[in-house]
Amino acid sequence: MDLFRTKSVERSIEETDEPEHKLRKELSAWDLTFFGVGVVIGTGIFVLTGQQAHANAGPAIVISFIVAGIACGLAGLCYAEFASTVPVAGSAYTFSYATLGELIAWIIGWDLVLELALGAAVVARGWSAYLQDLFGLPTWLAGDAAKPDIGTIAIVLALTVIGVLGTKLSGRFTGVLVIIKVAVVSFVVIAGLFFIKWSNYQPFVPDSEPAPGGKGADQTLLQGIFGVDPTAFGAYGIVAAASVVFFAYIGFDIVATSAEETKNPQRDVPRGILGSLAICTALYVAVSFVITGMLKYSDDRMNTAAPLAEAFDANGAGWASKIISTGAVAGLTTVVLVLMLGQARVLFAMSRDGLLPIGLAKVHPRFGTPYRITILTGLFVAVLAGVVPLSELSKLVSIGTLFAFVLVSAGVVILRRTRGDLHRPFRVPAVPWIPALSILACVWLMVNLSIETWVRFLVWLAIGFVLYFAYGYRSSRLGRGLKQAPAEGDAVPSVE
Ligand code: ALA
Repeated sequence: MDLFRTKSVERSIEETDEPEHKLRKELSAWDLTFFGVGVVIGTGIFVLTGQQAHANAGPAIVISFIVAGIACGLAGLCYAEFASTVPVAGSAYTFSYATLGELIAWIIGWDLVLELALGAAVVARGWSAYLQDLFGLPTWLAGDAAKPDIGTIAIVLALTVIGVLGTKLSGRFTGVLVIIKVAVVSFVVIAGLFFIKWSNYQPFVPDSEPAPGGKGADQTLLQGIFGVDPTAFGAYGIVAAASVVFFAYIGFDIVATSAEETKNPQRDVPRGILGSLAICTALYVAVSFVITGMLKYSDDRMNTAAPLAEAFDANGAGWASKIISTGAVAGLTTVVLVLMLGQARVLFAMSRDGLLPIGLAKVHPRFGTPYRITILTGLFVAVLAGVVPLSELSKLVSIGTLFAFVLVSAGVVILRRTRGDLHRPFRVPAVPWIPALSILACVWLMVNLSIETWVRFLVWLAIGFVLYFAYGYRSSRLGRGLKQAPAEGDAVPSVE
C-alpha cells in the first residue's frame, strides 16, 4: 500500500487545464483582498472581543489579538509561498498532496471541512441572531432546540445560488458588503475614541485568579498535561484568550483556495493573503483597544452576544447599536459566503483527484463554477446551521484551522528540500526558521484549547481515515495511474 504517494506540482497544474474541470480565471489582487477581508472580519471581532476581555485577558485582550495575529502572519507567509508556487484550487489540501502524500492530503481536506463548512454554519447562526435584533423579525423565523432556524437556512441557500452563478459575481457582492463592514468597524474605532475612560485600562493585565469551571474535559490540554489548576487573567489568560480570538482571523488562508481563478496568481495571491491579514490585524487591535477603554472589562455587559453595541449603550450612545448591527449583518453574510466558496473549492479539488466521486468536480458550462459541489456544500451547511446545536462545536473550527496551518508550514520546508528547482515567485524568508516558528505558535494555540475539543477533533479525523480506506485509496486518480480524468460513473476498482 502506498499511502504517501505524492502528486507532482507539474501534474497538479496540468490538470487545471482539463476542459471539464477548468475554472474561469477572473480574479485580481483587489478581488482577493476583498475576499480576504470579507471572510475574516466577522463573529470574532463583533462578539469574542468583549467576551474574552471579560473572561480571560482584561484590557490586555489587545495583546491577545497581537499574539494571534503574529501566529497567523507566520502561517500566512507559508501559504503565500505555496500558493504562488502551486496555484491550484484546494489550498492546504493541494499543497499537502505535493509534499506529504495522499493520506495526509486527504486528512487535511477532511479537516478543512471543520474550518470551512462548520465555520460557515457557526457564523450563519450568528447572522440570523443579528438580523432578528436589527429588524425584530417574527420569532418563527428563529430556531431553537426543537425547530429549525429558517432565517439561517434561507441565507445559506441564497448564498449558494450566488456561488453557483459566478465567482466574479460573488466577488462583487462581497465587495459591496465588505465596504459596509469596514466602514462600520472604522466607525466603532473613531466614534469610540470619544468615550474612552483611561481608568478602564487599570489594571491593563489583571492579576491571574482561579478560573471558575474549567475542570475535567473543559480544561485546556496544556493544563491537563501539567495538572495545573485552571486560571484566568495574567500572562496565561492572555494566551488562552489568544487561542479563542484566533477565530477572528480564520479565513485569510481561504484566499489561497481561489488561486486557480486568479488572473496572475503568482503575484496576486501573496498580496491578497498578506494584505487582508494586515488590514484585519490593524482593525482588530484598534477595536479591542477602544472597546476596553469604553467599558470596564469586568462589566457584565462585556459578556453578552453584542458587546460592541453594549459598549456604546453604556456610554449613552444607544443610537450606535443599529449601525453596529447593520455592519454585523453585512459582515457575517460575506463570511458565510466566502467560507462556503472555499469549501466548495477544496472538495472540488478532492473530487477532481478522484478521492471523492469525480462527477462532483464538474464545472458549469456557462458559469464556470464547480456548481455540483457548491450546491452540495450549501445543502450540508444549511442543515448543519439550521438544525444542529452549534455552540459547543465552534472551537472545532479553530483547532481544524490550526492543524492545517501546521501542515502547510511543514510542507514549505519539505517542498524546498524535495523540489528546490521550482520557481517560487514568493519566498518565505529565513526557512526553516519562520515555518518552524509558525508551527510552534500554532501548536501552542492548539494546546490551549480544551480537552473536549481535542477529543472531538480526533474523532473527526478517525472518521476521515475510515472513509479514505473505504473509498479514496481505491478511487484515487493517482493511485489508479490515470492521467485522463475517468468518465463519470466509471467503476471504481475493488480492493486488491
Ligand atoms: N474570522 C471569521 C469570523 O470571525 C470566521 O467570523
